Amino acid sequence: NEERSFIAVKPDGVERGLVGEILRRFEARGFKILALQLIHPSKELLSEHYEDLANKPFFPKLLAYMQSGPVAAFVIQGKGAVKIGRAMLGATNPQDSAPGTIRADFALDIGKNVCHGSDSVESAEREIALWFGDSLKPYARAVD
Ligand code: CMP
Repeated sequence: NEERSFIAVKPDGVERGLVGEILRRFEARGFKILALQLIHPSKELLSEHYEDLANKPFFPKLLAYMQSGPVAAFVIQGKGAVKIGRAMLGATNPQDSAPGTIRADFALDIGKNVCHGSDSVESAEREIALWFGDSLKPYARAVD
């Protein structure tokens, strides 16, 4: 079974019509889209998703931003999905993202950085379970 990662187009990316472009890049790179859903995340879901950031000063703003509209959540599968997924998104702060990455091409502000990608295989499985629950049990739907 190949590696999976959780990728999300945040509300600013959805609002700006970037979902197709971002999906296209992952498909063009060769990843399989295993799951895809537009989700209005609850405070509870976001608090679990961002549990490591609960004490950060920007946490309340982060939750408000993530609840400002639907999130396009999806799961990619393929070799190196976590590492390559992160590389394709670019550095968290778009000011530091390398040209050609999604954040560098479409964002300027760390508070509106268009997309999220899991930072390890462990957090990928945790985030997939959190956002997709029983509809996508670990590896249950993996193909190839
Ligand atoms: P993400 O990859 O989803 O992981 C944590 C998120 O917190 C990050 O993208 C940003 O959206 C947000 N974030 C991190 N640092 C800051 C900051 N200094 N100000 C506002 N938002 C931040």
